[in-house]
Amino acid sequence: MERPAGLCGLWALLLCAGGGAAPNEILPPVTNLSVSVENLCTIIWTWNSPEGVRPNCSLWYYSYFGNHQDKKITLDSRRLEEVPLNEDICLHVISQCGTNESEKTLKGEKKCISPPEGDPRSAVTDLRCIWFNLTTMKCSWLPGNTTRANTTYLLYYWHKYLTTPLQCENSYREGHRLGCSFNLTDSRLRHSSIQVMVKDNGGKIRPSFSVVALSSHVVPAHPDIIHLSFKNSNLLVEWKKPGDFLCECLSSQLEVNNSHLSSTLYTTEETKCQNPEKRSQFKITTDLDTSTTVRIRVRTNKYCYEDSNLWSEWSEKGSLGQKTNSTFYITILLIIPVLVAFAIIVLLFYLKRLKIIIFPPIPDPGKIFKEMFGDQNDDTLHWRKYDIYDKQTKEETDSVVLIENLKRGSQ
Ligand SMILES: *[C@@H]1O[C@H](CO)[C@@H](O)[C@H](O)[C@H]1NC(C)=O
Ligand SMILES: *[C@@H]1O[C@H](CO)[C@@H](O)[C@H](O)[C@H]1NC(C)=O
Ligand SMILES: *[C@@H]1O[C@H](CO)[C@@H](O)[C@H](O)[C@H]1NC(C)=O
Ligand SMILES: *[C@@H]1O[C@H](CO)[C@@H](O)[C@H](O)[C@H]1NC(C)=O
Ligand SMILES: *[C@@H]1O[C@H](CO)[C@@H](O)[C@H](O)[C@H]1NC(C)=O
Repeated sequence: MERPAGLCGLWALLLCAGGGAAPNEILPPVTNLSVSVENLCTIIWTWNSPEGVRPNCSLWYYSYFGNHQDKKITLDSRRLEEVPLNEDICLHVISQCGTNESEKTLKGEKKCISPPEGDPRSAVTDLRCIWFNLTTMKCSWLPGNTTRANTTYLLYYWHKYLTTPLQCENSYREGHRLGCSFNLTDSRLRHSSIQVMVKDNGGKIRPSFSVVALSSHVVPAHPDIIHLSFKNSNLLVEWKKPGDFLCECLSSQLEVNNSHLSSTLYTTEETKCQNPEKRSQFKITTDLDTSTTVRIRVRTNKYCYEDSNLWSEWSEKGSLGQKTNSTFYITILLIIPVLVAFAIIVLLFYLKRLKIIIFPPIPDPGKIFKEMFGDQNDDTLHWRKYDIYDKQTKEETDSVVLIENLKRGSQ
């Protein structure tokens, strides 16, 4: 098939000879290529379509960084990237008809963006962030080479569910490293990233940036051992996974010490949990040995995360001997006698009340007996005797009055 050379235009002189395939055609350059920064590290390049493109060209844009890295072919005249702005970043844009990849020899239009002003040696170095337990982000760094010791650092962070960057408040120091930690619990963030910037309050150091992908840099909290048992030459370790992780996203490692196995490690790549308790089991074959102690730790695995190889802390040690849950037993040993004593007291109290209800107090024959023999030392008896005497005299008086009344009546 012949192709009229005139249609190829000025921009296609070199490649038009290749024939019908459109992508080799050189189109005019894009116009108004510009760049801006949003949030902390969201860098946006925009451009306008080239002028003088033939009407039946389906216009696409081929853009790339550096030496044709991170290339993209889009219809959109815009490219947005989250890039830490610690050095110059340049985007090249080539317009083309069709979706085929442009020739590597083409350079296209280029637009660069530079980091904020300042001495690069003053910027903090080795800025790292780790997401603990999917709840707390801890970022730390080393001071720059030309920084004064009394520099006050500020850390800002942003992710796509925030409208503006926030300042981290909770600074800390760990040896030579300085850091700041903040709460990050939004579960929607799991497969996105956060942008971080560290600068100082006086504007004396050059800001440092980092874009932290949350599909790695994740460290779980330590797991907990729930139960240890020994059955048919098998040591069974039951444990509970930490936090909000999916079981299949955790690798686990068990360390066993006893007289046969010293510091032996057992690792499983993927964890299977028993719902709903999210417990898991480790089963290893060993000889029964009451001195067995175990501990367990976990890390995120390659099925869900870009393997970060960052283990959690170890769990508390658990032991198979009598030491298992020793605090529990001590508590039980202390609490049981107290409970029993209390129960007895309560029982006695109620028995006494019950007795009063069922058997009301009956006159004590002993007392009557004592009364008869007039125990002189007993005050109450004195009163009783006086009472009785008094009553008798009153009755006698009453009957005298009655007799007198009768007499009057008969008169
Ligand atoms: C794109 O390239 C392929 C070969 O790599 C070629 O077969 C195809 O025709 C090209 N498409 C256009 C629209 O030029
Ligand atoms: C480039 O931008 C200027 C001003 O913003 C505008 O006047 C001009 O039309 C733009 N060029 C193209 C090709 O869109
Ligand atoms: C574009 O249209 C011209 C005629 O106007 C035709 O000769 C050419 O082959 C067309 N190119 C493509 C890629 O369709
Ligand atoms: C880990 O996260 C869970 C909830 O996601 C929380 O209940 C637990 O307290 C956290 N543990 C630590 C050590 O922060
Ligand atoms: C096993 O022994 C090693 C070395 O003595 C010790 O560091 C570790 O804490 C022990 N682990 C357990 C689970 O007892």
